[in-house]
Amino acid sequence: MVLSKKKGFVLVLGIVLMFSLLVTGCGGGGNQSSDQQAQDQAQEQEQSQEESSSDKKVVKVGVGNVGKEFEVTKKAAKMYEEENPNIDIELVSMPESSSERYSLYLQYLEAQSNKLDVYQTDVIWSGDMGEHFIDFKDYMSQSEIDKFFKGSIKNNTVDGELIAIPWFVDAAVMYYRTDLLEKYGFDNPPKTWEEMEKMAKKVQKGERAEGKQDFWGFVWQGEAYEGLTCDALEWVYSNGGGVIVSPDKKVTINNEKAAEAITMAADWIGEISPPGVTGMKEEDARKMWQGGHALFMRNWPYAYPLAKSDDSAVKGKFDIAPLPKGDSGHGAATLGGWQLAVSKYSDNKEAAAEVVKFLTSYKIQKLRAMEAGLTGSRKALYNDEEIINENPYFKTLLSVFRNSTPRPSTPVAPNYNEVSTAFFKSVYSVLNGEKEAGSALRSLEYKLKDITGFESGEPTKTIE
Ligand code: GLC
Repeated sequence: MVLSKKKGFVLVLGIVLMFSLLVTGCGGGGNQSSDQQAQDQAQEQEQSQEESSSDKKVVKVGVGNVGKEFEVTKKAAKMYEEENPNIDIELVSMPESSSERYSLYLQYLEAQSNKLDVYQTDVIWSGDMGEHFIDFKDYMSQSEIDKFFKGSIKNNTVDGELIAIPWFVDAAVMYYRTDLLEKYGFDNPPKTWEEMEKMAKKVQKGERAEGKQDFWGFVWQGEAYEGLTCDALEWVYSNGGGVIVSPDKKVTINNEKAAEAITMAADWIGEISPPGVTGMKEEDARKMWQGGHALFMRNWPYAYPLAKSDDSAVKGKFDIAPLPKGDSGHGAATLGGWQLAVSKYSDNKEAAAEVVKFLTSYKIQKLRAMEAGLTGSRKALYNDEEIINENPYFKTLLSVFRNSTPRPSTPVAPNYNEVSTAFFKSVYSVLNGEKEAGSALRSLEYKLKDITGFESGEPTKTIE
């Protein structure tokens, strides 16, 4: 998208020479002074081009590449460049795993690098890395800020500074095959984990008997990374085992209900979930389920438009529902989502902030909803008829968002990443059979107390 200076110069020189030939009618040789004139003109042109290209700014944006998000961001960037010819947006694709992205970002930010101007940040990082980002209150009016979900703005406010603008909201849902539930005589998607297991076993057995040997009941995210923290929080909280560390700063994870929930998931492996689930991230699970090889999938909303596209094996054969309930009597959907933040070490803070304002504008969020099914961060999007017509499931999602469960990033800030890493590693050790849940959680409690300096406490029953 950047026109090289050299090419530009050759082009200008060519045009000037051609023009001078036309004007002088001179076919080569001779007229020294007009040749000289042409060269002088070309030099002047080059100079003025250099001056104007030095006004040109490049804004480097680190963005996600899951599902259709990169593609649709590229389209938006192009629109911005057309409206702002003095800005080039360079999109840099970031790793799929949130944990890997975290390490990369921290490496740049701690080195005060200007490699990226804009960072797409996970909802859990505000407390851990907010100090590296500019305050958007200097760039956006309060009335504009009020158009975003209040909870997201609160999440991104650190010591009174708005360190990132919410871009899209995530909350996990259960994807299920409507055709298969009907085929095996089930009227509704599962309301409890127990029901889910029963349905998964029956359908898996039936499908295998019909020759689909690689068919499984349930796929999810079991690799040792941030995604596993999200999945495991859902099992634990829905079962009454709390939210790892409570909002009032107590380490609550070492309890029977949590151990029971993690054991339940470990027991799925090899029974209703493939052994390879412990190597799966979002896209692995989606590809398997979308290929028609599983009944249920736990995933974020981005998978919906991909699953209903023409090349999907499950097109017209699926729906979404809230995740099943555990012993607590309620389900749990981990709250996720991504923001855009501008680095304090950027050489182009003003321009970068303008780009963020554009990318998070209503117009672009609508485009992202229509073309990539991304669930935006502005309230009004959910009353937009065009968007709802294109994505009728947005209505279901809105209620899932409202009841979603945040990870404990606020109480443990700035140590969330450490807390989460200790949690997912501990859960992982149970999934792969290395440890039994009770003993894994006992050591985890010890570790979390050490990281946070908090005492132990009783698991949180309801979260505001
Ligand atoms: C999704 C969520 C994000 C979460 C990640 C885990 O991208 O939006 O919040 O951390 O998944 O894999």
